[in-house]
Amino acid sequence: MKPQKLIGTLACALLIGMPVIPVFAQTDSVDLDFNYFKNEVQPIFLAKREGNVRCIQCHTRSSNFRLQALEDHQLFWSDEQSKMNFESASQFVLAGEEPLKSRFLTHPLAVSAGGDAFHGGGKHFQSRFDAEWRIMADWVAGAKNRREPREVAVRIIQTNAASDNATVIDPATNLVVGTITDIEIPHGIVGAPDGSQVYITNESLHSLDIVDARTMRVKRRIPLSGRPNNLGVTSDGSKVYVAIMEMPGSVDVIDIASMTNIKTIPVNGAIHNVYVTPDSKYAVGGSIQTRTINVIDTSTDELVWELEMSQGIRPMTFSTNEDGSTKNIFVQLSGFHGFVVVDFDKREEIARIEHPPVPGEEAHFDGLQGAPAHGLAVSPDGKTLWSTSKVYSHVYIHSLPDMKEIGRVFVGQHPEWITFTPDGKTAYIGAAGDHVTYAVDAERMETIAKIPVGQVPKRIAMVLMAVD
Ligand code: HEC
Repeated sequence: MKPQKLIGTLACALLIGMPVIPVFAQTDSVDLDFNYFKNEVQPIFLAKREGNVRCIQCHTRSSNFRLQALEDHQLFWSDEQSKMNFESASQFVLAGEEPLKSRFLTHPLAVSAGGDAFHGGGKHFQSRFDAEWRIMADWVAGAKNRREPREVAVRIIQTNAASDNATVIDPATNLVVGTITDIEIPHGIVGAPDGSQVYITNESLHSLDIVDARTMRVKRRIPLSGRPNNLGVTSDGSKVYVAIMEMPGSVDVIDIASMTNIKTIPVNGAIHNVYVTPDSKYAVGGSIQTRTINVIDTSTDELVWELEMSQGIRPMTFSTNEDGSTKNIFVQLSGFHGFVVVDFDKREEIARIEHPPVPGEEAHFDGLQGAPAHGLAVSPDGKTLWSTSKVYSHVYIHSLPDMKEIGRVFVGQHPEWITFTPDGKTAYIGAAGDHVTYAVDAERMETIAKIPVGQVPKRIAMVLMAVD
C-alpha cells in the first residue's frame, strides 16, 4: 500500500539488524488520518500562493502523485475523490517518521529549508515554520485534528470590494500584517469567536469562503444558493447566516462544524445585509427590493416577523437592553441621508435622524448607488452611534440613548462601514474612494492613522485571529 514506507522500514530494520516484524508493528502505530487529510491538507492543493501555480493545476496529470480533477463549478472534492487523493499522497509519506524523510514534504519545500533538490512544480514553502507546510507535516506525524489556537490577537479586516483580497490590520500598531488573497469580489466578513478562522462571502463564486487564521488562506468554499452579500455569525461560532441577494429572497445557514450549507430560509426579498443580534437569538436581514426587515429565530431558523419600511434597507446595527436582549435596530435606508430607529419589541419605527450638511464640505452625489449613508455601528460601551455619509465624507457621532449629535470627523471619500476595537478606543472606517482605512480615536474624535489598503474598501470587521 505504501511502497516508500515499506522500503524505508526494511532499510532501517536491516541497518540496525533488528527483526523485521516488530519494526513493522512500531511504524504502523502511526496512522495517517483521512479526515485530517481531507479537511486540512487538501485545501493546500487548491490554494493560490503568490508566484506559484496551484498544486491541482499540475497534479491531475503530472507524476505519480495524482489529484482528482474538479468538475466545472465544483469547489471541493467529494469523499470518494478525497479517498483517491489520500491514497495517492500516502505513497510519498513515511508516517510518523522524521518529516524530511517524506518526499511529499521535501518536494515542495525550499532546498535551504531542508527540501530536496528539484520539484517540477517549484518550491512552495520557504521554511519549515510555514503554516501550510506545518499542516502537511502534522498529517505525516499522525495528527487527527488541527491544533486549537493557543494565542489570539485582535485584528481589523478590511475587505476590498474591487480587489481580490482583504487587508489584515493590527490595531496595536495600525500596520498591515497580512492579506487574505484569492477571493474575487469579497463582500462581507465575520470571524469565528475562537480565532481559528474567518468567513468571507465570495460574490464571484457564490460561496462562503472559510479562511484559516494561521495560514490566511482559503480553507474551504461552501456553495451558496445564490449570489451572497453580507453575513453574520452566532456568538458560539456554530452557525453563519449568509444574505442571498437574489429574488424572491433567502438566507443560507452554514453549519460550521460540518462545513455544510444546512438550510436556505425563504424570506421576503433579496437580502443585502444579514446580522446576528448581540444575544444571538435572531438573524436580521434587510431587503432593498421589498424594503423589508426580516427577523429569523436562530433556534428554529424560521422567519418570525417582518417589518416594511418606507425605503430599501441598507446597513443596520443594534442596541441592547440591560439583559443583553435587543432594544433598537438602527437602519440606514435607500435615498435617506441619516438613520431610522426601530423598536425591536414593538416592531415599529420610532425615530428618524437626518444628517445635516457639513459647512464648507462639498457634497458628492456621484457613485452613491442609492445609499447616501452606508455605514453604522454602535460603540462597544453602547453609548454612541456612528453613521457615515458618502455625501459629506464624514462620520456623524450621536450619543445613546438620546440620539443627539455630539461630533463629526472627516473620513475620506465615500466612507463606508465602521468597526471598533473591543475596548472601544478606536473606530475603523473604510474610505472606498481613497483606498485607505481610517483609524479614528473614538474619545478625541480625531483621525490617528490612514492605512493604505486595496481597491474600494467597504466592509470591515473586528475579529480575533490565531497568531501562534
Ligand atoms: C507546475 C506544475 C506543478 C505544481 C504546481 C506542483 N507540482 Fe508537484 N510535481 C510536478 C512534476 C512535473 C513532478 C514530477 C517531477 C518531480 O519529481 O519533480 C512533481 C512531483 C511531485 C511529487 C513527487 C511525486 C513522484 O512521483 O515522485 C510530489 C510529492 C509533489 N510533486 C507534490 C506537490 C505539491 C504538494 C504541490 C503543491 C504544494 C505540487 N507538487 C505542485 C509538477 C507540479
